[in-house]
Amino acid sequence: MSQDVLNVTDSRTNQTYSLPIENGTIRAMDLRQIKTGSDDFGLMTYDPAFMNTASCRSSITFIDGDRGILQYRGNPIEVLAEHCSFLEVAYLLLFGDLPTQHELAEWVGEITHHTMLHETTKRFMENFRYNAHPMGMLVSTLAAMSTIYPEARNIHDAPNRLLQIKRLIAKIPSIAAMSYRHSLGFPYVYPDNDLSYAENFMNMLWKMVEPKYVANPVMARALDILFILHADHEQNCSANVMRSAGSSHADPYLSAAAAAAALSGPLHGGANEEVLKMLDEIGSKEAVPAYVKRVKEGHGKLMGFGHRVYKNYDPRAKIIKWTAERVFEVTGRNPKLDTALELERIALEDEYFIKRKLYPNVDFYSGIIYQAMGFKPEMFTVLFAIPRMAGWLAQWQEMLTDDEQKISRPRQIWTGHATREFIPLAKRGPLATTPR
Ligand code: ACO
Repeated sequence: MSQDVLNVTDSRTNQTYSLPIENGTIRAMDLRQIKTGSDDFGLMTYDPAFMNTASCRSSITFIDGDRGILQYRGNPIEVLAEHCSFLEVAYLLLFGDLPTQHELAEWVGEITHHTMLHETTKRFMENFRYNAHPMGMLVSTLAAMSTIYPEARNIHDAPNRLLQIKRLIAKIPSIAAMSYRHSLGFPYVYPDNDLSYAENFMNMLWKMVEPKYVANPVMARALDILFILHADHEQNCSANVMRSAGSSHADPYLSAAAAAAALSGPLHGGANEEVLKMLDEIGSKEAVPAYVKRVKEGHGKLMGFGHRVYKNYDPRAKIIKWTAERVFEVTGRNPKLDTALELERIALEDEYFIKRKLYPNVDFYSGIIYQAMGFKPEMFTVLFAIPRMAGWLAQWQEMLTDDEQKISRPRQIWTGHATREFIPLAKRGPLATTPR
């Protein structure tokens, strides 16, 4: 069978090269043979922000951004959100298939029995400033866990890796809940092993003096659905950081801390917090047209709109909108929903957004639900990080077991000085330009 090839002619040398095409890609390393002479390094690709570069082969999450499709291991997100629990989906991401009843029971039992934080972790967290941002607390505490489980460094040992995976998935809700209670000045609530993953998280967040916390089933299911929707999203910014940090063979706690740090930015997981700020700033449904006009004039962005991959409605946003209605039946309607719906309506009819294929993304409606549930906006990105831990770990494990992967190390195009003559301190003049 003949192989697809890309024939390129180098105008500098008039030489033609045949580059194999596989899976719609050429290998960047195949370009290296294209040289002008023996002392030429060879051709590279230049792709700031990875706009057109596949960094790995992956079988975890599939996205067709033009058609608005998202699948975990071949299972459409809509089906998983309707029929599965978050831990079932986490198992799917990590092990490749949905669990049997027995496997699920064992998995849930294992996760449930790893939810407690080491007392030193608790004490560590108690020392954060009273108004510390919960994402800062989460990132730091994930990193600090590396000091409690030093054996996690042994990343080539599969059973050891699995133990750390279980710990991270089990403990991240405990850390998140503690960061929340810390900001309110409430004491830490220990996990309750009788409860499901989402219910136990709610218990650790909201239990006060009652002997046993009973979660509202609609809210618990809504949280579980939100967890499913946020569990993975192929090679996004934080997954890429998880893989990149992990590629140096850093332990999973430190790699996850790096990934969580990447998630915290307002262009990534931090967008849900920004959406709420934006809706507050807009104030009312009536003020939406003026706000959209300002955005079109180049004053800021519509937070919760646009996506690197989706050029169609984000399938997660549709499910979140549906979930919001269920939550509002319990909590009462969040008045911000009307502003958000109006914003979506106007934006989707506007030439500026149509031309750029800007649709609501996962963050557009999630914050409105979280707020109705009683969370402060500072907690929103933490709520994103909890389920995303499963995705990060699946990506990390896939990277470590991929023979083609090595330490992640991009190249650069040098734009600085040629070798300069050293000027002794006393003879240096003032800077000609402002420091960058
Ligand atoms: N509001 C207004 N204009 C926008 C928006 C927006 N939200 N997003 C993109 N655009 C415009 C850009 O200004 C640009 O216009 P131009 O062609 O006239 O210069 C064009 O649309 C293309 O945008 P890029 O920034 O090139 O798209 P990119 O793929 O690099 O960025 C991103 C994607 C970061 C998500 C961007 O759409 C954005 O900043 N959105 C708001 C933040 C947000 O909601 N982030 C959450 C993403 S989902 C997640 O991470 C979980």
